[in-house]
Amino acid sequence: MLAFYLDAGVDCALNDEPVNRLLDNEIIAAPADSAPREARAERAEVKRAPAPAQRPGAAPPTPDAAIASARAAAATAPTLDALRALMEQFEGCALRSTATRLVFADGNPQARLMLVGEAPGRDEDIEGLPFVGRSGKLLDLMLAAIGLDRSKVYIANVIPWRPPGNRTPTPQEIQICLPFIQRQIELVDPDIVLTLGNPATQTLLQTRDGIMKSRGRWTDYNTGTRTIRAIATFHPAYLLRSPAYKRMTWMDLRAVAQALDAAPGKPAN
Ligand code: URA
Repeated sequence: MLAFYLDAGVDCALNDEPVNRLLDNEIIAAPADSAPREARAERAEVKRAPAPAQRPGAAPPTPDAAIASARAAAATAPTLDALRALMEQFEGCALRSTATRLVFADGNPQARLMLVGEAPGRDEDIEGLPFVGRSGKLLDLMLAAIGLDRSKVYIANVIPWRPPGNRTPTPQEIQICLPFIQRQIELVDPDIVLTLGNPATQTLLQTRDGIMKSRGRWTDYNTGTRTIRAIATFHPAYLLRSPAYKRMTWMDLRAVAQALDAAPGKPAN
């Protein structure tokens, strides 16, 4: 059974005790029951968990409400610290309840280059920092190849909470989290955004093209306060599986380095 769970991506315990989620709001489906109606109703009442009270700031009832609430919340954050604090409290995304912690960002908030990945994995969920696992190690090497490191770039993800078992985030989860990463980009105000892999690219650069087509192509990104340049490349996790694409990634990184050199901007520190 444990091997099955592991294959399914269930690789960490969330609580010491199991939680019977069937008891949350629903009556447990009972086999056909011949007891009198009143007796059945009485037993059902016992099995029905009390409806959770709606706490202030608790999860909004519908995805649309969650998206609207994320938008409204993100817009009010005047600084990155405020945005982080507000995301820590945000209950509109269910991923928050299965993740260990928020993975907000790493690197230099003054950086001219901001990298955006998809979502934290297991190592990131444990450490609370993006790209610290195997793909993060490769990302560090990729940055070093163009003379950069984490003190000179800013790194975040479209989704700031680890999806259980590293599954792909749902379109709904992405839409709920989108206002946060958009505000994060606006507040960092980099000169260049580099998206890593398909989900980050399609979400932020508003394209339906796959990464094979969208990578290495400069596009405009409107931060909300100005238009900056954006480019996509392969996700380091993909490169670990398909090293042949490192060559193209190198070309994309060279393009980023040249653009940083060419454009006058705030010091990269
Ligand atoms: N993959 C991502 O997209 N982001 C991380 O932070 C780690 C792995």
